[in-house]
Amino acid sequence: MKRVLIIGAGGHAQVVADILLRMHEAGADLLPIGYLDDNPHLFGEWRLGLPILGPLAVIDAIEHDALVIGIGDNQTRKAIYERLAACGKQFTVACHPSAIIARDAVIGAGTVIAARAVVNAGARVGVNVILNSGSIVEHHNCIGAHAHIAPGSTLGGGVVVGEGALIGIGATVLPQCTIGAWSVVGGGALVTSAVDDHLVVTGIPARPHMTVPRNGHPRHRRAHVRV
Ligand SMILES: CC(C)(COP(=O)(O)OP(=O)(O)OC[C@H]1O[C@@H](n2cnc3c(N)ncnc32)[C@H](O)[C@@H]1OP(=O)(O)O)[C@@H](O)C(=O)NCCC(=O)NCCS
Repeated sequence: MKRVLIIGAGGHAQVVADILLRMHEAGADLLPIGYLDDNPHLFGEWRLGLPILGPLAVIDAIEHDALVIGIGDNQTRKAIYERLAACGKQFTVACHPSAIIARDAVIGAGTVIAARAVVNAGARVGVNVILNSGSIVEHHNCIGAHAHIAPGSTLGGGVVVGEGALIGIGATVLPQCTIGAWSVVGGGALVTSAVDDHLVVTGIPARPHMTVPRNGHPRHRRAHVRV
């Protein structure tokens, strides 16, 4: 039986714990054994029947076979993944039994697939990705490492999502569109054409999300400016 440690103990980590427990109940050959989290106030506490065992620094003192990172922020999740992978740590996929995964889909190590997510034929999903509750990754999508497809968002066929991108809650990306690395598609947006790297887009149709502070000086992200 593969013993799985969860990195982080916050809200998303508890979703990961629930997924792993449900996989175990459904007969998967793995068992979550607890969380590691650097918040000292959490040490010794329990969440979903699993203990918070200590900070990340004690990882080698705890016998385990694989890891899943339960941290929602993409940059933090990437940094921790790369640090641990460089030490030879193994990552496992956490996939809720209610998710529907095409038989030829390829899922990277450490990826979390939450309840009722759908991954359709020919899709390729990178390492350390979050496919959140009810998200739809249509056929022949390519999802980059460390990305997050948030709850209820829908990607049409042939969509490409770059490394570390966030597709916000309830957003829709039309077929064949590309979302650049580390970009953010705001909640509820409708993407109708390619989005460059490191952009935030919102609205229907999605446009770059800019904001203007009270002194009128343009600044990254404040109040929408349509371009
Ligand atoms: C788009 C987003 C990144 C903007 O964040 P932000 O720059 O901090 O935005 P603010 O909260 O300061 O809001 C600035 C303005 O944009 C508006 N706005 C924020 N998000 C918006 C969105 N998704 N669509 C349309 N307008 C939005 C706000 O109402 C506000 O408008 P106002 O200036 O007229 O009052 C963020 O709101 C968002 O949608 N993130 C996705 C979160 C998500 O889905 N996470 C996954 C959870 S599991």
